[in-house]
Amino acid sequence: MTVTTAVALAMKRVVEKAARLEGIVKVPGDKSISHRALILGAAGRGRQTIDGISDAADVRATADALRTMGCFVESMPDGRTVVMATSLSREFDVNAANSGTTARLLAGFAAGYADRCRIDGDASLRRRPMARVAEPLARMGARVTLANGGTLPAVIEGGSLHGIRYELPVASAQVKSAILIAGLCAEGETTVIERVPTRDHTEILLEAMEVPVTRDGDAITVHGGIRPVGTHVTVPGDASSAAFFLVAALLVPGSRVHVPFTGLNPRRAGFLDVLAAMGADVTIDAEHAGVERAGDLTARTSELAAVTVDDPARVASIIDEIPVLAVAATRAHGRTVFRGASELRHKESDRIEALATNLRALGAKVETFDDGLAIDGPTPLRGAAVSSFGDHRIAMAMTVAGLVAEGGVEIDDASVVDVSYPGFYNDLRTLVR
Ligand code: S3P
Repeated sequence: MTVTTAVALAMKRVVEKAARLEGIVKVPGDKSISHRALILGAAGRGRQTIDGISDAADVRATADALRTMGCFVESMPDGRTVVMATSLSREFDVNAANSGTTARLLAGFAAGYADRCRIDGDASLRRRPMARVAEPLARMGARVTLANGGTLPAVIEGGSLHGIRYELPVASAQVKSAILIAGLCAEGETTVIERVPTRDHTEILLEAMEVPVTRDGDAITVHGGIRPVGTHVTVPGDASSAAFFLVAALLVPGSRVHVPFTGLNPRRAGFLDVLAAMGADVTIDAEHAGVERAGDLTARTSELAAVTVDDPARVASIIDEIPVLAVAATRAHGRTVFRGASELRHKESDRIEALATNLRALGAKVETFDDGLAIDGPTPLRGAAVSSFGDHRIAMAMTVAGLVAEGGVEIDDASVVDVSYPGFYNDLRTLVR
């Protein structure tokens, strides 16, 4: 296999068919938890220490933004990261780069903690919807200005916020988290109602930081005026990153891949249930206690069957894994369907179009819908030139396709994997036999 045919400026990569994958790979710390450990550390009092923080560019964007705001965020010689809200400057200008989580969670943080904050990002992030977070923050009393089209750059003037009761119109953990973080500074109670459960890392971490969080059915409430208390956070491996290696092991004949200490938060690990329904041999060999559930996973090559995923809660729990599950679907017997996933159109790329374009180029049979896609399998994949569409998860999903395609998959810009997993190609290389 060649995963390193980097052509200078274009950063092209050709991924060739692998004979077998075998070995152990420790994926970087969970990206969602890492962002929250940093931001809640900065919102809290005392010292937050973080073990196993993600080295993703997205997480670096959050750390850099917090430094811009005057927070102390440093890596220690023992590998831990320390965060303290030392001297929050009251006006600042931050760059969220490619990271939707940075932009949206910091919007909530800025509403509570800043006089004035301007948030901008790269061209991809400037296309993504921000009104979904601006609207509830404005209801809480913040002044939020967005570019025409409801996008970045955003200017947030925080101030005396008051609690709200807000039902999320879209299933989004980022929006929920922004409101809860702002709610820490608001007068009275802030309640977010989510009809579709989304990842609850913010709620879990707030509780670990001694902030009472009331969960009553689908309503989540925090009280204003309570500062989180800095704690020690051990970040488990990112399940979304692990998913690429697990699926690769399922598809490449004769493979066995072990991914230790991977996050198993039930609202994130839905892809394991989907894979189980497809007949995949993925086992949880051991579980580890901690603030967040974690376990050691092993995947072995499996014959796969098609599935339909249209339950909203299940879709929310696999939203970042659909790209790689779609690659698995090309090898599964029957028609695999993902519906109720229109949020895929608002990620780092329009993932429905990106997947359809790329998978068709590789010979797969794909139908698209406004809210999802259907893939008929099994189809042998053939090598072709595809695009990352500037999207890390599309680049990694196409890499997995390349490991089983006949004739080499050329990805136009694979360097985008740095957004969530800078060591992805090095780690993959250790598994290829
Ligand atoms: C994230 C939530 C999800 C997810 C993203 C990370 C988070 O986005 O797709 O990769 O950390 O809260 P939405 O909140 O837009 O669903």
